[in-house]
Amino acid sequence: MSLLSVHLRSTRDDSYKIVIEPGSLAGLPKRLLSLAEGKRIAVVTDRMVEKLYGKRLLRALASHDSRTRLFSFPSGERAKTRRTKERLEDALLSSGYGRDSLLVALGGGVVGDLVGFLAATLHRGVPFVQVPTTLLAMADSSVGGKTGVDTPAGKNLIGAFWQPLEVVMDPLLLSTLPRRQITAGAAEIAKHGVIADKALFHFVEKNLERLLAGDPQVVSRALLASCKIKAGVVSKDEREGGLRQILNFGHTIAHALELARGYQLLHG
Ligand code: GLY
Repeated sequence: MSLLSVHLRSTRDDSYKIVIEPGSLAGLPKRLLSLAEGKRIAVVTDRMVEKLYGKRLLRALASHDSRTRLFSFPSGERAKTRRTKERLEDALLSSGYGRDSLLVALGGGVVGDLVGFLAATLHRGVPFVQVPTTLLAMADSSVGGKTGVDTPAGKNLIGAFWQPLEVVMDPLLLSTLPRRQITAGAAEIAKHGVIADKALFHFVEKNLERLLAGDPQVVSRALLASCKIKAGVVSKDEREGGLRQILNFGHTIAHALELARGYQLLHG
């Protein structure tokens, strides 16, 4: 018998910044071009966000780098599937995207999770930037590197841990978000308060109307406190060996209800 060891002690530093800034969408093209360092950018989004922000972002990026393309897929949880991922993969590959790609996940939680998973597997892993456009995605799914798709057996059952290069949140984007969607995000913020920060919970209680109205100041403060909690947990237990399970508070029953109702209920 011959016996060899493959030494793989990891020295990666996957640390990244979360930018929370009302109006940051205006500076996003510049920010992305600087993060890309010459890589070819692909903006991936859903059809709704494509119309609202995607086309404008593509125009701004393409005026600096004509190789930039936008790829979109149908909006909604039902599109968060292996099939959608496969279609996007084929589209990216046939457009010549190689190892020097940088993906931009522009959208809500479905877009962030799916594009993150796509980034984790495209050419065995390319970087991606999260640009969440819903309060739910800003408060929770865009941070922490959980990526994946749903299957008929349940939500997020296929995926990977793949951290973004950066997360850029613009609370002003909530002005186009239906109140029902903002309420779903507020629930995740309140959840972070319940599990780790009494002051955050009281802040949400006291400022609920302004939060639900998308007041940029209140949203920014709530997001900062919320993301601090999530970042703190993820830094200690990225792969959910134990502590990270606390972020799933309430999710066991909620995921089952979402599935049972055919994803008519919002996650929050
Ligand atoms: N949404 C729970 C987590 O990211 O762990």
